[in-house]
Amino acid sequence: MKTFTNVKDLGNLKAAVSEAFVVKQHRYDYKYLGENRTLLMVFFNSSLRTRLSTQKAGMNLGMNTIVLDINQGAWKLETERGVIMDGDKTEHLLEAIPVMGCYADIIAVRSFARFENKEFDYSETILNQFIQYSEKPVISMEAATGHPLQAFADLITIEEYKKTQRPKVVLTWAPHPKALPQAVPNSFADFMNEADVNFVITHPEGYELDEKFIRGAHVEYDQDKALQGADFVYAKNWAAYTDPNYGKVLRKDMSWTISKKKMALTNNAFFMHCLPVRRNMIVTDDVIESPQSIVIPEAANREISAQVVLKRILEAL
Ligand code: CP
Repeated sequence: MKTFTNVKDLGNLKAAVSEAFVVKQHRYDYKYLGENRTLLMVFFNSSLRTRLSTQKAGMNLGMNTIVLDINQGAWKLETERGVIMDGDKTEHLLEAIPVMGCYADIIAVRSFARFENKEFDYSETILNQFIQYSEKPVISMEAATGHPLQAFADLITIEEYKKTQRPKVVLTWAPHPKALPQAVPNSFADFMNEADVNFVITHPEGYELDEKFIRGAHVEYDQDKALQGADFVYAKNWAAYTDPNYGKVLRKDMSWTISKKKMALTNNAFFMHCLPVRRNMIVTDDVIESPQSIVIPEAANREISAQVVLKRILEAL
């Protein structure tokens, strides 16, 4: 494995999940793989889980880890070509990336959608520059259009908790005060479409996602109908994708908040969210605190998804 940006990079998904279960039981058995290897984690945006879990995964594998927060202590970086750099940006990403590549064996990058230019975001300009110019394997720690480490952890969690062979998994939009990227729902759909699940997406009209990720999955605009019989409810907010509303918040309809009443429609479903979550916007206190909420084990599995990906890359170096 040389890059990790989407589900296809894992190859056989069942094999990847099986490997995750083995890694989870024996996470310190592979320390020899990372000896004298350096993981550089580059953050253009904030993080709690991704930062800690990916660093922990690297340490489990015996790697040295370096964390660079671009907006705290690094030079401000220009990311677009052709710009006359007479403003506050001191360095261009096209010099910074190969320099970072000199100090690392693997580079992990977090760079969210900016919602300034859909083409710039959806062509994964920043992530692809790292892939092209670093000459090192690159992992997405949530880029403009995808968050595959999260989706892989989500799938591992579903496989751990499922009670039927082919559970019903519902991805539901929920309200939020700010415009959030589509990366998490895109990757979740990307993974669920490859998994052995009955996958349904529900959102208000206007919040349709990119067909590249949805790939014909069942979209049900009536949330109550979608939730009926669900075994897993995966809540997430995202801003509009479709033109002319790209990056906009179209509505904050609180009737879409996941509440006890909504969960009562399901098959005693487990509640999932990638976190961080806005309580009583996305989900009510009583649901997220209920025994059916598996948001903490889900977050714990971020260490495992990152470790499987790093392990595979180290094995291929
Ligand atoms: N779920 C997730 O990626 O969390 P952080 O943004 O805190 O890393």
